[in-house]
Amino acid sequence: MLSLKQISKYYQNGGSKVYVLNRIDLDVDKGEFISIMGPSGSGKSTLLNIIGMLDEPNEGYHYFVGEPVHQLKEKQRSALYKQNIGFVFQAYHLIDELTVYENIETPLIYQNVKGSERKALVADVLDRFNIVGKKDLFPSQLSGGQQQLVGIARALIAKPKLLLADEPTGNLNSKQGEEIMDLFRKLNQEDGVTIIQVTHSEKNAQYGSRIIELLDGAIASSTNV
Ligand SMILES: Nc1ncnc2c1ncn2[C@@H]1O[C@H](COP(=O)(O)OP(=O)(O)OP(=O)(O)O)[C@@H](O)[C@H]1O
Ligand SMILES: [Mg+2]
Repeated sequence: MLSLKQISKYYQNGGSKVYVLNRIDLDVDKGEFISIMGPSGSGKSTLLNIIGMLDEPNEGYHYFVGEPVHQLKEKQRSALYKQNIGFVFQAYHLIDELTVYENIETPLIYQNVKGSERKALVADVLDRFNIVGKKDLFPSQLSGGQQQLVGIARALIAKPKLLLADEPTGNLNSKQGEEIMDLFRKLNQEDGVTIIQVTHSEKNAQYGSRIIELLDGAIASSTNV
């Protein structure tokens, strides 16, 4: 489903290049559930953003569902993203001007789902995430954990083939966190959604079928669970 070959990302600092990712090779099969771990600053979010086509590497080859992403134009990449990927961001990235309801509905509009069907799907997700009472509020009116739940709901609603999640439970209490991990497991095992999550939690990492450790922008280990 996904193949990264010799992917590097660097920033210029004065005259020298500071590498954030250094020659990453990574192949992910459909149906895998991968946990990426590693210290703060090791490049986890950068790698996830590149996989999600939200950030571009400086070097390397990137194939996703058979498409050479490194050769695509911005518009084609955006279409590929909207058709295939759900993203749970480390810092929520909800749209401030839209209500909870509208934020969750957005991916369905991208996928041209009809109005009546959208209504039913959003109602179902609001219910599943226990946030029906919040549907008309704006992100700024929610707690951090609630914003995170809305971000997860938005990532899942359009049934993505690939779910990318950056610290999805970082702001949830332990019971909510466990529910989200159980939901991810179900999506992976029953619906065949491929999942790549970044986590600092050893316990959450164990939900995956493979744990990848990043150190200083390189893959230090890849272990099947
Ligand atoms: N625009 C930028 N310019 C310069 N350096 C950057 C830029 N964006 C990111 N970096 C650097 O890239 C490195 C990796 O950042 P990244 O966000 O991928 O880390 P991370 O592993 O996700 O960390 P955390 O666990 O804290 O979220 C950091 O050292 C960061 O300072
Ligand atoms: Mg990060």
